[in-house]
Amino acid sequence: MDFSLSEEQLMIQEAAKDFAQNQLLPGVIERDEKQQFPKELIKEMGNLGFLGMMVSSKYNGSDLDTLSYVIALEELSKIDASAAVIASVNNSLVCWGLEMYGSETQKEKYLKPLASGKKLGAFCLSEPEAGSDATSQKTTAIDKGDHYIVNGTKNWITNGNSADIYLVIAQTDKEKGHKGINVVIVEKGIPGFEIGPKENKLGIRASDTHSLLFNDVIIPKENRIGDDGFGFKFAMKTLAGGRIGIAAQALGIAAGAYELALKYSKQRKAFGTEISNHQAIAFKLADMHTQIEAARHLVYKAAWDKDQGNNYDLSSAIAKLHASQVAMDVSIEAIQIHGGNGYVKDYHVERFMRDAKITQIYEGTSEIQKIVISRKILKN
Ligand code: CAA
Repeated sequence: MDFSLSEEQLMIQEAAKDFAQNQLLPGVIERDEKQQFPKELIKEMGNLGFLGMMVSSKYNGSDLDTLSYVIALEELSKIDASAAVIASVNNSLVCWGLEMYGSETQKEKYLKPLASGKKLGAFCLSEPEAGSDATSQKTTAIDKGDHYIVNGTKNWITNGNSADIYLVIAQTDKEKGHKGINVVIVEKGIPGFEIGPKENKLGIRASDTHSLLFNDVIIPKENRIGDDGFGFKFAMKTLAGGRIGIAAQALGIAAGAYELALKYSKQRKAFGTEISNHQAIAFKLADMHTQIEAARHLVYKAAWDKDQGNNYDLSSAIAKLHASQVAMDVSIEAIQIHGGNGYVKDYHVERFMRDAKITQIYEGTSEIQKIVISRKILKN
């Protein structure tokens, strides 16, 4: 078993680290405080190829494997988890599904600008009454022959205001349950489509999260992805990959908080010596490091499964469940090691803790991951 990264993967890691340190770090506290979407930085991420990492070069993507993507997200999240989720949604939930299941026309028209970062995407599944219970879609896409009429409300949509292209999941035929659900491509600015209020969040505050309102929105049939009734499976398949991205984000949050705590523990003195010389702190660091290593192995394994063409429903759920718990545990300990300073924004670790929490909630809560995992293991 070879655990080493390839030359190319090491280069991607270095490029992401360099971008995060030099470009994301300088304004990260201010963006968090003001809930400021990093528009110019996201544009730059597009120029560097971070927004269509796994998309083929034929469609303006970077043609990289999932492991490279995960490594890049980890580095970005060590500094700025908001920038990381903006990229993760565009890469995993929008570009991947479009390339995998979209028509050639859809790929030319939508995937190309999304993969190059000229446009940004959003994935619209959650609703006021359908978060975890995703088959209970109330948004409708009524079949009118050559078009659909879409009505309803979507909630907690990442990139909600900043996106240009939205993949919207909606119920066409209630009688058919999940087999009556479709996914359609909606462009910003079309009549009847409105961006709702922005959420004032605990963490990932520089990413914009909105509700979306659809009022008799006319969507041509050619904007449906896949066959009639494929929408729910599209969402599930896309989320299985998306969860690897969120697991990588969680891993990066944990690693970022740990690195700060490690550095601080070697500088801060108490009782006549650096606090790292106290076993209470050294053991905390040992536990944090061990948890992160375990999470990294699970996240990389899920990415490897996807790259090998193996089924990754189980490994992505395990990776997300574990890495998100590690992100919470490690970021809380990082605050503890920083003491009073940890509670102050300037030291970054309190932001890591706030950012960590969402990784246990979005793209399937930890409880949903346990449903996925338990169903898989009980079936075998
Ligand atoms: N791949 C392919 N098909 C799948 C699948 C997968 N990974 N998972 C389920 N399916 C299929 C099933 O096979 C079944 O099809 P058949 O009837 O043809 O066999 C169909 O989908 C329905 O599956 P279930 O009966 O298992 O459905 P369920 O109602 O029990 O729900 C669930 C399953 C796993 C709980 C699912 O509802 C789920 O994942 N919920 C969480 C939704 C979620 O992750 N939301 C996050 C919102 S997006 C977000 O957060 C993005 C953001 O902005 C950051």
